[in-house]
Amino acid sequence: MNDDSKAAARIEQLRTRLKSRRGPLSSSARIFRAPGRVNLIGEHTDYNDGFVMPLAIGFDTWVLAEPREDDLVVAESLDFDAISIHRLGADVGDGTSSGHWSRYVAGVAESLRIAGHAVRGMDLVIHGNVPIGSGLSSSAALEVAVATAMIAYLDSSPPTDLDVARICQSAENDFVGARCGIMDQYAAVHGAAGHAIRLDCRSLQHELVPLEFTQTPARIVVCNTMVRHKLAGGEYNRRRDECGVAVGVLASRYPAVTALRDVTSEMLGSVAEAMDPVIYKRARHVIAENARVELASSALRRGDLVTVGQLMRASHDSLTQDYAVSCLELDTMVDIATRQKGVYGSRMTGGGFGGCTVNLVAPECVDAFRQGVSVDYERMTGVRPEIYVCDAVDGAGEVREH
Ligand code: GLA
Repeated sequence: MNDDSKAAARIEQLRTRLKSRRGPLSSSARIFRAPGRVNLIGEHTDYNDGFVMPLAIGFDTWVLAEPREDDLVVAESLDFDAISIHRLGADVGDGTSSGHWSRYVAGVAESLRIAGHAVRGMDLVIHGNVPIGSGLSSSAALEVAVATAMIAYLDSSPPTDLDVARICQSAENDFVGARCGIMDQYAAVHGAAGHAIRLDCRSLQHELVPLEFTQTPARIVVCNTMVRHKLAGGEYNRRRDECGVAVGVLASRYPAVTALRDVTSEMLGSVAEAMDPVIYKRARHVIAENARVELASSALRRGDLVTVGQLMRASHDSLTQDYAVSCLELDTMVDIATRQKGVYGSRMTGGGFGGCTVNLVAPECVDAFRQGVSVDYERMTGVRPEIYVCDAVDGAGEVREH
């Protein structure tokens, strides 16, 4: 099936499901989408006011929406084969566990309302193909797709793109319980075909970095360890707290420090004695990782993929040793990838504790890479990985039905 017929089949699937529940659809029924992302480099830096470099990828979540006359958001997930009903203004997620999909939907509605937007009641049918719990931001894709749908039916002026990302981040922070930074939602909104997004998470301004790799062509290949992570779980939030402790120690010596973004290696060295060694390592990762994003974006711009690859590997080692968010399967996947021909660099991507690696691979070596990684990873772990060759795509928007 080519892309057009896949899209037509997806549209038909969404419409058929809503029709079977509500009868014929009105002309105001529309479809919206938002993509997942892969982060090239800059991990666990976003909530430290630092730098990240994600790109939106071709996995996405689609939402068919049709307004209702009442104040209910009735959402049906084709992926979970379940329906959830939320009354606008009511508590989010009564009786559901913290990471339940329906909380993302209701959380987005309530975050939009808190931001002053009069969300309408509506029927939603949701279908996503971003692998869940794989570090490719299925959550942000869901949040941003739902937000894009709800915003399309506002009578008042819509929030800015940046506000959409912030509102979706709040939905996850306040109603799901994962204290994520802004990277994923930002990428789902601002993605641009053929480009990575170098985002300054303090100023919330970004530059697009072209990924055409003209001098030295390469493909971005994502390898899924098939180990599911769970960000709503405690380790992610604990890392945030540890960074907060580091900032506390540093600010008592350097009052201008409000986030690890403000700290140099020298400053960190000067408080080493006063700092718990684990907290010290966490801070060391963030400071070095911020520097790596800057180096990687200039290396990308000059087509120096060897340097980008080295920075990716250094990032992975730091995430393993200093930040302790990798796991055996991710380390194994990176080691296997690094041994393949034509690989510039490999590292875990996203929150960690499972999920995917991101790899930069010479185009002529991609087939052999897929084959080699699959065979070796399955031999070593007993699990067959999934491997995706990714292009950078545009951020959220309406799916036009032809
Ligand atoms: C998750 C979070 C992001 C970011 C990454 C780690 O994807 O949602 O905000 O913190 O982990 O870089």
